[in-house]
Amino acid sequence: MNQSEFELQLKKILKINNIELDDSQVQNFFEYYKILSEENEKYNLTSIKDLKSIILKHFLDSIMGLKLFEETSKKNELYKFDIIDFGCGAGFPLVPYKIYNQSIGKLNKIIFIDSNSKKINFLNILFQNLKFKNNQKIMTLHSRLENFNSTDLSSKLILVGRAVGEINKILSNIMSFLFKNKIEDAIFVYYAGPNFIIPENRIVKFYQSSKNIKKTIDVRFEISGKITEYSYQEKKINRKLAVFEIKNLK
Ligand SMILES: C[S@@+](CC[C@H](N)C(=O)[O-])C[C@H]1O[C@@H](n2cnc3c(N)ncnc32)[C@H](O)[C@@H]1O
Repeated sequence: MNQSEFELQLKKILKINNIELDDSQVQNFFEYYKILSEENEKYNLTSIKDLKSIILKHFLDSIMGLKLFEETSKKNELYKFDIIDFGCGAGFPLVPYKIYNQSIGKLNKIIFIDSNSKKINFLNILFQNLKFKNNQKIMTLHSRLENFNSTDLSSKLILVGRAVGEINKILSNIMSFLFKNKIEDAIFVYYAGPNFIIPENRIVKFYQSSKNIKKTIDVRFEISGKITEYSYQEKKINRKLAVFEIKNLK
């Protein structure tokens, strides 16, 4: 695949979906596609391999979801708080969105977490090759989210996740992580398929115990979620975006 063929396809598909990119953004997407394809030959990073599907199902889908979140939340949350891409795999959705909107990460940290070391190694190679106007706060981390411990996170967090697993399990991992890091408030932006049904808004009793904590601690989290729908084309694809507010009630 040469660069001009790639650019033609990318610009055509993004234009149909009202997304315009400048030359440096197009160049970043080309680097991403090239390195993803090369590394995918060595080990399995993604089962989606052909150019059109990568553009549609990885690049465009990633951009559309977080763009919708930004438009509907109207609170500039992606700028104010640290953002974690939880189970980021080969960087979806946050790398394409960061290429599209370079302003995120100016005032906050962007953290990519995955329990698979190969995927984190891939991201490290990728970030050496992408050019962001501002990339000093991008971190990659080989860890399970629920085991990640940091003293250096903003008081409220944005987590984003795509294809990370079953929703109740994901929410439970997030609560564990929030509890461990003493974070009381988080938003979780979850990319879901067209048939996704949001779990009822609820208060969850969450029991936390560990070797260091002698008795089980009873924590309550309030979880409320809302769904918005989006679609994109070449051929029409329908998607849902679920946004959860997760609060520790103590
Ligand atoms: C199917 S892949 C999806 C990757 C990417 N988000 C995407 O949309 O293409 C799921 C990824 O989540 C990671 N994962 C699953 N549970 C995790 C956890 N608790 N903490 C960190 N990573 C996790 C896996 O290692 C895998 O790379």
